[in-house]
Formats: sequence, structure tokens, C-alpha cells
Amino acid sequence: MDKLVVEGGVPLQGEIAVSGAKNATLPLMAATLLASGQHKLSNTPRLRDIRTMGRLLEHMGAACEHDDLMTIDTGSVQKPEAPYELVKTMRASVLVLGPLVARHGCARVSLPGGCAIGARPINLHLEALKQMGAEVLLEEGYVIARARELKGATITFEQVTVTGTENILMAASLAKGATRLVNAAREPEIVALADYLNTMGARIEGAGTSQITIEGVRELTPPADPFPVIPDRIEAGTYLIAAGITGGAITLTHCSPEHLQALIEKLRSAGLTIETGPDRIQVRSNGPIRSIDVKTYPFPGFPTDMQAQFMALMTLGDGVSFIVEQIFENRFMHALELTRMGARIELDGRSAMVRGVKGLSGAPVMATDLRASASLVLAALAAKGITSISRIYHLDRGYESMETKLSQVGARIWREKE
Ligand code: EPU
Repeated sequence: MDKLVVEGGVPLQGEIAVSGAKNATLPLMAATLLASGQHKLSNTPRLRDIRTMGRLLEHMGAACEHDDLMTIDTGSVQKPEAPYELVKTMRASVLVLGPLVARHGCARVSLPGGCAIGARPINLHLEALKQMGAEVLLEEGYVIARARELKGATITFEQVTVTGTENILMAASLAKGATRLVNAAREPEIVALADYLNTMGARIEGAGTSQITIEGVRELTPPADPFPVIPDRIEAGTYLIAAGITGGAITLTHCSPEHLQALIEKLRSAGLTIETGPDRIQVRSNGPIRSIDVKTYPFPGFPTDMQAQFMALMTLGDGVSFIVEQIFENRFMHALELTRMGARIELDGRSAMVRGVKGLSGAPVMATDLRASASLVLAALAAKGITSISRIYHLDRGYESMETKLSQVGARIWREKE
């Protein structure tokens, strides 16, 4: 197993190119199951989760190649099944459920089970499929869903769910009649998926708002041109904080500032100077970090996927910051590791009170999930001395070449075998 070693204290300076978004690529890969033939995606990141989704599609009979372009040939998909071995390593595997039922009439997908950041049930995905006429059973840890033909329905999500919205968007594209999604997720990744589906011949309107309508079509066709994946807003946000926490100045290229509005506003309130262009963001630290409060919300609110990284920044704030996590019930595991580096954090259910300290100090710490790992790297970049972060396979799930990108802007960071 690898660990990351960081010698902190260098103000980061320079330019970082943002990669394609993991959470946009995964649903696009699942969507290829809806149309037989060769699909081409560009700007896909090289990440463990992306390889896992590739293996899952191959398990079903697809052929996947990932060079400069990602090509997925779904012409010979025969086995509509997502086995436990793959689903347990990546919950997003559940994204194949909607496309498989819609196109093959049946699916056998392992239930994902619990996860470090919360219970994360998929009841809303299953309820919606039932409303569209699917028969859904749970057998030996697997969801078995069948429908000779899915039918359009009005589906009101009782809670905003990103992959739930994506699953039903895909299923409804091949359903008979119109489907209306109410209280749909509005994330940029939903818009990207709807764009791809529409390019394949789907009839979707309203993606990016909380009401989406989908007029089902009989067939979808893989587009001739490669489809570009949107930039990773969470990777971009993580590097904005890397500049802020080290007192540096970074320019991000290949990014979409409009996807990061809520974070940019908070970072400005925390004292950073941020200027945006159409596809670049310049961030510069400007004196002390101001302690401010943050609550996580579905998009366009402050993203839960940036909460851990923001907490790392607030550990060095000039006062007290209250951070409330409203999406997941157990997403504060980084807090305990941060306190091992000298942070002062008190947890109370879904709230954290972070009292700023003058400095952090390097320590051995352990990554517990993807974004928690990123927050530890950020803290380590600012800390005095050496931090070693173990279990960084979590980080490899979602950050492409993180240590290379950070080294390019001056960080002293390297990988070692444990
Ligand atoms: N929920 C239910 N029932 C459901 C579905 C969701 O109760 O059927 C609850 C969840 O337990 C959670 C809330 O609804 O409390 C929101 O969960 P959501 O379904 O939106 O999360 P997700 O789709 O499983 C995606 C991202 C996550 C990100 C969340 C929230 C992907 C592949 N994953 O997960 O990304 O945190 O949305 O924005 O898109 C990450 O990249 O580190 C990551 C965890």
C-alpha cells in the first residue's frame, strides 16, 4: 500500500490544469449501455473509480479502452449484472441499474451496503423504477429489477439525490411516454449527462433545474464525435484551497468557474483574492485566513464534497468557524485526524466548531475516504514538518496525479511504499 509524504510550509505558486470530472465520467460510462455501438469520450480522468467502472462494463460484455480517448463498445453486452466484488469498491456502480432495465429489460445489481460517510441507501432509485413499472426484488444482497417496458411517470424525489436523478434520467430516456422528475438534483454532472443523452437522440428538457421532463424514445444511437467530459469542480476547488492554506497564488486552467460559485464566494469571505475568466481561476492569498461558517447543500449550494477541504482551511482561521454537514450523516472523519496535526475541532452531531490555531504540525495520519484524504493533504501542505498520510488508495479513486500536480506548483510531496 502507498502512502503520501508531505513536507509542509511552501507557499504554492504556478499553474495547474484541472482534469475531467470523475462524477461526470461515471454516469456517462453507464449511459453507454443505453445504445449499442461505439461511444467515445474525451477529457476522461485516469482514476481508480473510472477503471472500476470500465471493468464493470467489461464484465457485462462491453469492450473498453482508455488512451487519449476513452472508447466503449457496447455492441456485445449480454450479462446485465453488477457483481458485489465491483460494487463494494465503488458505490457509483449502481448507475448501471437504470440503463440495464431500460435497455435489457432486467438487471441484477449488488446492493452497495454501508459506506464510511453514511448509510447511503438507494431506496429512492428503486422507488422511482417501481413507479415506472419495474418489478424490484431484493435477493441475496442483490437488487433484481425487471420490466418488459418502462413507462413514463411523475416522480417526486423526497430528497435530492444525484445518482438517483441520473439513474432515472437514463431509464426514462428509453421509457414509453413522458417522465417528469420533481425535486431533481441540479448538479453540473446532471446537465452533462442530459447533454450526452440528448446527443444520442433522447428528448430531455430542464436539466440543471429541479424539474426535468423526459419524452421517452424507442432507440438511442452513439454519437459520431467524441463527447468531452466537463472539468472536475471538486478537484479545482481542492487546489484553490491549496493556494489559500499555504499563503500562495495559483492559476487553474481548463476549469469552469460557474460550477464553483458557492465555494468561490466563501473563499472570498475567508480573505482570498479570486479572479475568474471563462475557463480559468486565479487565486491569491491576501493576509490572514478569516474564520467563516459553512453549511453544505445540494448544488448550487456549498458542496459536501468540499466540506473536508474547507475545514482544513478553517483550522488556520483567525477565529471560530461553524461547519454544518447536511448531506451525509458521518462525514467528519477528517476532523479527528486534523486534530492530530494540532487543529482544534469539536464535533456535535452534524456540526463542527473549528477554532483557528496559529499553525499545524506534521504527524502520521490516516485517510478514511476520498475527500477526507484531500483535506489531510491540504493540512499537510501548510503544516510545519513532515506528515505521512496512509491509505491513500482513497485519494487515487478521485484525484488524477495529485502529487505531480502539486509538485509542479512547488509542493514537497512524494509517494512511498508503506
Ligand atoms: N439518499 C437516500 N436514498 C437514496 C439516495 C440518496 O436516502 O436512494 C440520501 C443519501 O444517503 C444522502 C443524500 O440522500 O444522505 C444525498 O445522496 P446522493 O444520492 O445525492 O449521493 P450520491 O449520488 O450517492 C453523489 C456523488 C458523491 C457526492 C454526492 C452529494 C457520484 C458518483 N457521487 O453521490 O460524491 O458526495 O452525490 O453531492 O456522483 C465523492 O466524489 O467523493 C462523492 C462521495
